[in-house]
Amino acid sequence: QPSGSRMEDISLLGREDCRSKGGASGFKVALLGASGGIGQPLALLMKMNPLVSVLHLYDVVNTPGVTADISHMDTGAVVRGFLGQPQLESALTGMDLVIIPAGVPRKPGMTRDDLFNINAGIVRTLCEGISKCCPNAIVNLISNPVNSTVPIAAEVFKQAGTYDPKRLLGVTTLDVVRANTFVAEVLGIDPREVNVPVVGGHAGVTILPLLSQVNPSCSFTTEEISYLTDRIQNGGTEVVEAKAGAGSATLSMAYAAAKFADACLRGMRGDAGIVECSFVASQVTELPFFATKVRLGRSGVEEIIPLGPLNEFERAGLEKAKKELAGSIQKGVSFIRK
Ligand code: NAI
Repeated sequence: QPSGSRMEDISLLGREDCRSKGGASGFKVALLGASGGIGQPLALLMKMNPLVSVLHLYDVVNTPGVTADISHMDTGAVVRGFLGQPQLESALTGMDLVIIPAGVPRKPGMTRDDLFNINAGIVRTLCEGISKCCPNAIVNLISNPVNSTVPIAAEVFKQAGTYDPKRLLGVTTLDVVRANTFVAEVLGIDPREVNVPVVGGHAGVTILPLLSQVNPSCSFTTEEISYLTDRIQNGGTEVVEAKAGAGSATLSMAYAAAKFADACLRGMRGDAGIVECSFVASQVTELPFFATKVRLGRSGVEEIIPLGPLNEFERAGLEKAKKELAGSIQKGVSFIRK
């Protein structure tokens, strides 16, 4: 039985029908890893999203408490909690969008790849559940290392015969959010007016901000380019070190994930011109996965937007990014195929 929400009491009172009609126009969203540092604020933000009619909160710990808490917010989405592996299938059945921040985060001195051994297995189990219970859902994968967990998810879906590359999206929005913030600081303008494409992947040198393509168009000195590229690539480590053992980015990540999920939901609703960066199956380079701008629509990724003209600095960065990405992608694929 789902736990923690007043929904059980409401259904006992025979009001379930009336509640579900009220929310019937929205999307059903599941959050896997909902009790974590990202999961909790992301649950809050998704409960505030008017496009969400049903919000399922799944974790292996603490979902009754998180669900009870979130369910008291007077917004439209009906919240239900699910605790532990035996409730995974109920959590996933009928979902339109599944967001995955489940797994362990970095501590100081760790790279995202150091998380591989634990998170790879978690992502595999959750994706097996998705194949079985909501094979048509769009998946937003946050668990690190994203450069490997997205290929892992793809392999799991291929084995189950449910793979559709348009529906599997690695979340790299935090890199864009950071890039917008840092570039706005340098330019002395409002970050809401800045849009920096960040391509490649989501770890160290694979995070490639295209500062020559910033909107609104602007130019930077060599020092500014070097400072900005370094700060954007190491933004995650900046937070890990400041938190000094208490985890990695959670609040800015929840904001970024909520922004990305909202873009996916607006695309699914049929809104035109929704473009976000994401790490997806791609033919933009010779690698099988790559992050670029993508256009989102009813079925997920509807168009992969080409890289556009790169300057010499970006072309050199692209070569470095591709070299590291190739290894991370292969590591993910081998984890499932071995
Ligand atoms: P956290 O440790 O605070 O929370 C993770 C949650 O996942 C915990 O509540 C835990 O119980 C749950 N969990 C563990 N195994 C599970 C399973 N088998 N099924 C369901 N839930 C399970 O970690 P935090 O800070 O929320 O980070 C989560 C992940 O997100 C990490 O892998 C982290 O590296 C990644 N991350 C990704 C970013 C991105 O830009 N894509 C940015 C920041 C973090």
